[in-house]
Amino acid sequence: MRTPFVVGNWKLHKTIAESLALVTELKNALGALKGVQVGVAPTFVSINPVAKRLEDSAIATCAQDCHWETHGPWTGEVSPELLADAGVSWIIVGHSERRQFLGDSNEVVGKKVPAVLAKNIGAIVCCGEMLADRDGGRMLEVVDAQLGAALANVDAAAASKLVIAYEPVWAIGTGRTATPAQAQEVHKHIRSRLAGKLGQAAADSIRIQYGGSVKPANAEALISEPDIDGFLVGGASLEAADFIAIVKAARPS
Ligand code: PGA
Repeated sequence: MRTPFVVGNWKLHKTIAESLALVTELKNALGALKGVQVGVAPTFVSINPVAKRLEDSAIATCAQDCHWETHGPWTGEVSPELLADAGVSWIIVGHSERRQFLGDSNEVVGKKVPAVLAKNIGAIVCCGEMLADRDGGRMLEVVDAQLGAALANVDAAAASKLVIAYEPVWAIGTGRTATPAQAQEVHKHIRSRLAGKLGQAAADSIRIQYGGSVKPANAEALISEPDIDGFLVGGASLEAADFIAIVKAARPS
């Protein structure tokens, strides 16, 4: 009932030429694929060329972050409105690298999410615990606090434009993936929290992606879990063959 959604988060990688080369391969391989939604999130400078290359394809151009204001004295920032103008239809908000190193507190994420949704752009809202939180048994508490703040000003009408990405920080870029059972436990918890906040119908419709060392070899086992509805892929999204294999694994059989 939920169409799986797989997004490649390219982080700080690829020139414009490299971005176009990758996206052209993806478009050729995945352009006509049914049953799964696909997106790529290039750096800001590659967004517009990539969006133009993808114009006649179902692959969505996404952004890795945005500011919460539309315009103003915010040197270095980009607004949801400008990203939409450049061709973006989804924006990743609250990625753990931004939370850890670039000032995206729960409060900041709580401003960005409604700003994205207000422009009718989809928001991919990231959450996930650090290793010490998991070891200390606080993982669900941490995720609850992150999502509580992120969704404080969001209502059920936004459900179709809302995706949650659960990315345990200890699994990001480490090669150490959460087991399907570990991921499912948190995904199920997140869905029950969404039901409490937005109602059961909205919670049942919202895609919850898993992220953290997703590879062709582990994608199929992860997607078999009932509450895992796609992936946010970092490292493996930089190689066409790996990303294509992950997207194909996410297709309902
Ligand atoms: P990874 O990154 O797939 O390289 O672990 C995932 C992410 O940060 O979104």
